[in-house]
Amino acid sequence: MILDHLDVPIVLAPMAGGPSTPELTAAVAEAGGFGQLAAGYLSAADTAARITATRAATAEPFGVNLFVPGPATPAADLADYLAELGADHELGDARFDTDDWDAKLDLLVADPVAAVSFTFGCPSAAEIARLHAVGSEVWVTVTAPGEARVAVDAGADVLIAQGAEAGGHRASFVDRPADDATDPLGLLALLQLLAAAADRPLVATGGIATGAGIAAALAAGAAAAQLGTVFLRCPEAGTNPVHRTAITADTPTMLTRAFTGRRARGLRNRFLLEHTATAPAGYPEIHYATAPLRAAARAAGNADEVNLWAGQTHALAPEAPAGDLVRTLAAETKTALEKALSRRIQCC
Ligand SMILES: Cc1cc2nc3c(=O)[nH]c(=O)nc-3n(C[C@H](O)[C@H](O)[C@H](O)COP(=O)(O)O)c2cc1C
Repeated sequence: MILDHLDVPIVLAPMAGGPSTPELTAAVAEAGGFGQLAAGYLSAADTAARITATRAATAEPFGVNLFVPGPATPAADLADYLAELGADHELGDARFDTDDWDAKLDLLVADPVAAVSFTFGCPSAAEIARLHAVGSEVWVTVTAPGEARVAVDAGADVLIAQGAEAGGHRASFVDRPADDATDPLGLLALLQLLAAAADRPLVATGGIATGAGIAAALAAGAAAAQLGTVFLRCPEAGTNPVHRTAITADTPTMLTRAFTGRRARGLRNRFLLEHTATAPAGYPEIHYATAPLRAAARAAGNADEVNLWAGQTHALAPEAPAGDLVRTLAAETKTALEKALSRRIQCC
């Protein structure tokens, strides 16, 4: 098991859409953590090129992350929202695709990496068996005990427990506005529920930005912590300048489907406030429809129309090389655990 051999219990979250780079993955791996490469939004050919670049930068093992495709959304369910956005924005084609799923799975079977992780759903037992046959571990991201049971039944080796605090898209197997009436589980609650529901190692993710946060996740039973937002300001990250600057402010975050048609946590801005109430579930169609307006806003430095994905502790993200950050977090974790152990617990 990869998690049994890490020098530090820190996993780099895959961050598609720019931040994830071979350099960032390699830097975390070289510092003793587990680096992951995001392959979401990439073709199989581009994924292969990034795997090659990562191998050139480190001999350490690393993982690759894929988006599990869901069903297409009927055009009628998107029409009102597209008309609302189209009134004052240039939109792209609201198309459906599977994010090159079959070709990327074939690539990872032909040219295996240490672990393949998944979000937005669970691969089939047959797909997981193909990855096991070539020696890869399979990590599935879950947000609730029911999803954990599905992943375990399909053959997942590790569960990534994503709490509500997490930046970026929710990993939920199904994204339904009808479920919004129920609060998503916070990380500490989720870890305790998963420890009882599923006999698999847990990787905790969501809102962890310090060694104290990592220590808390370990104490709650996780084998490691997966951190995303805290790496966004590292020089090795491909974070765009608007995003890089925005996360330094103390702006609150919110869950929204406004940018992509799938629930995600980002910094509150004008676009999100104006459109969250009306945005339907419709991923990836809405993602493609808003792509031109987001690109234009990034180019213009207009933070009000960019999807500024960030977890709840984004203001703690330092500007530091990723290797230094991993080493600092590891030292802080040790101190936090020692401090916790020194608390008086009087019992029989
Ligand atoms: C900018 C950004 C992009 C993300 N992209 C992905 C992704 O491609 N695949 C994935 O499984 N998770 C993705 N996530 C979610 C992370 O895996 C993780 O759940 C989250 O970063 C944890 O919360 P934190 O950001 O507070 O550390 C992304 C998160 C962010 C902030």
